[in-house]
Amino acid sequence: MRRLDQFLANLGYCSRREARDWIEDGRVTVHGEVADDSGAKVKAEAVRVDGEPLDHPDGLLLLVHKPVGLVCSHEAREGPNVYSLLPARWQQRHPAITSVGRLDKDTSGLILLTDQSPLVHRLTSPKHKVPKTYRATVSAELSPDLIPLFASGTLLLAGEKDPCAPATLRLLGPREAEIVLTEGRYHQVRRMFSAFGAEVMTLHRSHFGPLDLEGVASGQWRELRLDAIGI
Ligand code: URA
Repeated sequence: MRRLDQFLANLGYCSRREARDWIEDGRVTVHGEVADDSGAKVKAEAVRVDGEPLDHPDGLLLLVHKPVGLVCSHEAREGPNVYSLLPARWQQRHPAITSVGRLDKDTSGLILLTDQSPLVHRLTSPKHKVPKTYRATVSAELSPDLIPLFASGTLLLAGEKDPCAPATLRLLGPREAEIVLTEGRYHQVRRMFSAFGAEVMTLHRSHFGPLDLEGVASGQWRELRLDAIGI
């Protein structure tokens, strides 16, 4: 149970102050009756706005196909962000929708967005070792010697104390590879290749755990059940 005006504000419909106007205008019903008290404690299932049930009152988990050029930060000064792909109402929710880990501005591919912070913590925790698959094109020819090096769990990135966890590298062409990581350090794929003199030219994440981008075009998203990844 929560205050009616708080429900509307937290789900991004309007501010708490505006909620009073929405209620006065008769747009909100509780158990089929026009609501008259913005402070009434109500259950989400009982509420309708303009005749419609509340918009995802239990939370959201979205699988987004991020295009290059969008950041995962909410900071306006960092440029256009991935949240701008979502409906306006979802961008006004509290708690805010955030990304599960991050992809760089120049990286495309699969990113999960959610308003469930425990889920973010679970899915990004190194403890759970969720495999993330990337496809990279690089500036220099890749030697097959990199495969055991990436797999060894000994690769130390500049400025870090702990070596990278073992990663699986598959060469797809002279300058193209697939890499599977179970951790998510800052610019990790770019830094791993750069340690061997290869600059990443394009980077795309195709999988996050069991999830892929099938049927989701660049710039599009689909909803997942909150328990879609059983961690
Ligand atoms: N590694 C990177 O270098 N960038 C990403 O966006 C993701 C992984």
